[in-house]
Amino acid sequence: MIIAVDGPTASGKGTISKELAHRFGLPHLDTGLLYRAVGRQVFLDGGDPENAGDALAAVTFPDSLLGDPALRSEETGGLASRVSVHPAVRKALFDRQRAFATQAGGAVLDGRDIGTIIAPDANVKLFVTATSNVRAKRRWAEMCGRGLEVDLADILAQIERRDERDKGRGDAPLAVAPDAYVLDTSGLDRDAAIAAAIEVVEAACK
Ligand code: DC
Repeated sequence: MIIAVDGPTASGKGTISKELAHRFGLPHLDTGLLYRAVGRQVFLDGGDPENAGDALAAVTFPDSLLGDPALRSEETGGLASRVSVHPAVRKALFDRQRAFATQAGGAVLDGRDIGTIIAPDANVKLFVTATSNVRAKRRWAEMCGRGLEVDLADILAQIERRDERDKGRGDAPLAVAPDAYVLDTSGLDRDAAIAAAIEVVEAACK
């Protein structure tokens, strides 16, 4: 069984995907991490994320980079979003994601184009979303919890910039697959969002 989970930044798709993987005993791939590793590698190389050549050169990042905590930062998220607009980068990361999706026994993948490009044949497609204000507040609370001093208005602006870039790019933009179930988590807490996602998967498997 392939479960595709897409959605914008801070929608809760990562948490939901991990919980679905746990619940249904499936391996999970956070595909955003691959784009983050490319973005981080461009930075380490002193390259320009807007330059397709620099970004493509970074797709050969070492696997050890995937464990680097710097990958989780908002700066790296922005770099990831910039390198992800280049079709050559997306193409270079395709096989790895497709192989993960089609492994025997199934998988859960989360990202922006799983239900549309990587696994259009997924058995279940979830599009997890929430209003940008709710997502900004969640990200802000999470960062404050980590002891970071951040401004809510700045976070909201960053989130909106990233949404615009991810939705507006020509190649594999963030979009709802026609057969996806849209799960709006704006009014849901963590447990309620997870329960709703499990219900969707169980209904699809009946
Ligand atoms: O999910 P995330 O915030 O870790 O993703 C970081 C960026 O990577 C996101 O802004 C766009 C890009 N991305 C993508 O283009 N396609 C994916 N499947 C996953 C992420």
